[in-house]
Amino acid sequence: MRLGIISALHEEQAGLVEAMGGAAKLIHGKREYWVGKLWEIDAVCVLSRIGKVAAAMTATTLVEKFGVTHILFTGVAGAGDKTIRVGDIVVAESLVQHDMDASPLFPRFEVPLTGQTHFQPDQQLSLRLSSAAHAFLECDFLETISETERQAFGLAQPRVHRGLIASGDQFVNDRQRIDALNGALPGLVAVEMEGAAVAQVCQELDVPFAVIRAVSDNANEDAAHDFMRFVKSVAAQYAFHITRRLCRQLVEAP
Ligand code: ADE
Repeated sequence: MRLGIISALHEEQAGLVEAMGGAAKLIHGKREYWVGKLWEIDAVCVLSRIGKVAAAMTATTLVEKFGVTHILFTGVAGAGDKTIRVGDIVVAESLVQHDMDASPLFPRFEVPLTGQTHFQPDQQLSLRLSSAAHAFLECDFLETISETERQAFGLAQPRVHRGLIASGDQFVNDRQRIDALNGALPGLVAVEMEGAAVAQVCQELDVPFAVIRAVSDNANEDAAHDFMRFVKSVAAQYAFHITRRLCRQLVEAP
């Protein structure tokens, strides 16, 4: 196994490159790919930057140039449903490009000429990721997220959700817009800007992948402010410890 790990922003992946200890940096397509061992797993870490094209380019390069066999996307997302709170964790069961609309030529959300609206991540990798997320919340959360931070974000008892993640080239910061997406996409748990693009690339290249997100905001009028605060202070801890627990699992039970 060679695991490609993508995040959009530095804050969503901080600490992983250091944890690789002596990784080699290779530059391709204006991105830095860090190649080495991450908790004994052969890994390549990279920042995609934001948006579907950036993510698709990065995922393709990871597979075609760096030979990764699996891809993991970690980062933050806006809540896609009222039952989901800031600090919760979502693991994709399915992904859709919410801004894809070639109607009336093709049904809304369908990626033209694929006959598909939804893309499915690898079940086994997603299950391992969920269990890594549970382990993080049960074992690392209180130690790594300070009481001040927990209070600032109202992080009482974060939960792990599995469901539909919708991606689009749009930062959703409008209550009406998120409610409309929730109505149009049953099972929606989160919105972000990259996952479904990685999903399409991985499906087309036959590479198993999984997507995990910490919920940074409610995709409403406060989203930009909440997002910035969350990303600056706690997003990295979520990503770091969940990835660490996932790698540990992969080593113990390959
Ligand atoms: N990533 C984190 N929060 C988001 C939001 N509200 N919309 C799109 N992407 C996001």
